[in-house]
Amino acid sequence: MTTEAVLDLGALGDGFVRDPYPVYAALRARGPVHRVISPHGYPCWLVVGHEAARAALADPRLSKRVPEGPEAQIQETSPFPHMLITDPPDHTRLRRLAQREFTSRRVAAMEPRVQEITDGLLDAMLAAPDGRADLVDALAFPLPITVICELLGVPFLEREAFRDWTVALFGLATPEEKRETAARMGAYMTELVAAKRGRPGDDLLSALIQTRDEDGDRLSPPELLGMAWLLLVAGHDTTVHLLSNGVLALLRHPDQAAALRADRSLLPNAIEEMLRYDAPVPTATPRYATAPMELAGTVIGAGDVVLPVIADGDRDPARFPAADRFDIRRDTGGHLAFGHGIHYCVGAPLARLEGRIAVGSLLERAPGLALDGTPGGWRTGLLFHGPSHVPVRWRP
Ligand code: HEM
Repeated sequence: MTTEAVLDLGALGDGFVRDPYPVYAALRARGPVHRVISPHGYPCWLVVGHEAARAALADPRLSKRVPEGPEAQIQETSPFPHMLITDPPDHTRLRRLAQREFTSRRVAAMEPRVQEITDGLLDAMLAAPDGRADLVDALAFPLPITVICELLGVPFLEREAFRDWTVALFGLATPEEKRETAARMGAYMTELVAAKRGRPGDDLLSALIQTRDEDGDRLSPPELLGMAWLLLVAGHDTTVHLLSNGVLALLRHPDQAAALRADRSLLPNAIEEMLRYDAPVPTATPRYATAPMELAGTVIGAGDVVLPVIADGDRDPARFPAADRFDIRRDTGGHLAFGHGIHYCVGAPLARLEGRIAVGSLLERAPGLALDGTPGGWRTGLLFHGPSHVPVRWRP
């Protein structure tokens, strides 16, 4: 067990929220597993470094089920059961039912529509006569939320309300506020799914309502709500920060932006580098020790919370040479931005598609794109990282 003083992440202030990398690197220099107090005030173990974080993401001794008890409940954000808080065999079953419908064919078929939505958003953004906009409001938020809503078949989603709820749920709201937000979201999702049951369409949510596997198994009503909730939340908030962090990295590294403008074949790898360099999901969702265990040389107790630090694993020079350098040509293979193991991101192909189309179209259509001030509204909490405002300008 470590004897060092427990680090209180919440006391590190805005500097840590904007740029957590030096803090994680300093921890990594001392070893892979560290007891800290999360910004929400609960004790947990951070696992840093690529090898240890990757191993923890796939460690079968760590459960995703939220344990009983008030302390664990303050971390719980979802109004319904879903696959990210489930272990096998339930997880296997839920994921299989989702993947039956969330096929690469369905995602590939979205490509023309993702391009069309992007074009419409860029038309509106680039019409600004002064050549200025907030990139998050104009593109990074509306693109993913529109895409996931259309995919699920919920065109009537109250998007701004949903955005506020998501920010509150995963930020530094009090447990009471989180419970209220989760309840509000729960009621909203219940209405949404009921409407879809009444009027099914050719969309993912209708398919999930109908789907059955070979054994005739299907999603129970709460599982269906949990699935819809998870896809809506995970399907937009993450991709918002792929776009905001990714474009920010490009604008802060004009040589890399110029290289990408000159050679569009670099785009797919540039998206991977954006994911590696500034992970939208910097720490994975919580895992819980089911019994006392040794984790990378440190003994942890039953029920302890473990957070694998994806953002640090992907900045570990032992895995990625000169890891703090943003380099769109580097070998990004093995980055952890989409997780690892049985909970590996279901939506990775969709996120990549949106990233390629959004960043490619933006560079093509906004000549002289540059930062127009300081990005702000950085996400608090450990789950998401990125600015909610990125002021940009271009040559109109
Ligand atoms: C750049 C965008 C995205 C990033 C960085 C991202 C990241 C992640 C990560 C790190 C995990 C694993 C969490 C853990 O093990 O604790 C995960 C899981 C998941 N993601 Fe994503 N995600 C993105 C986009 C999406 C999209 C677009 C969707 C849906 C349309 C989605 C749906 C899911 C689901 C359902 C899971 C749970 C999988 C399971 O438990 O088996 N994600 N994502």
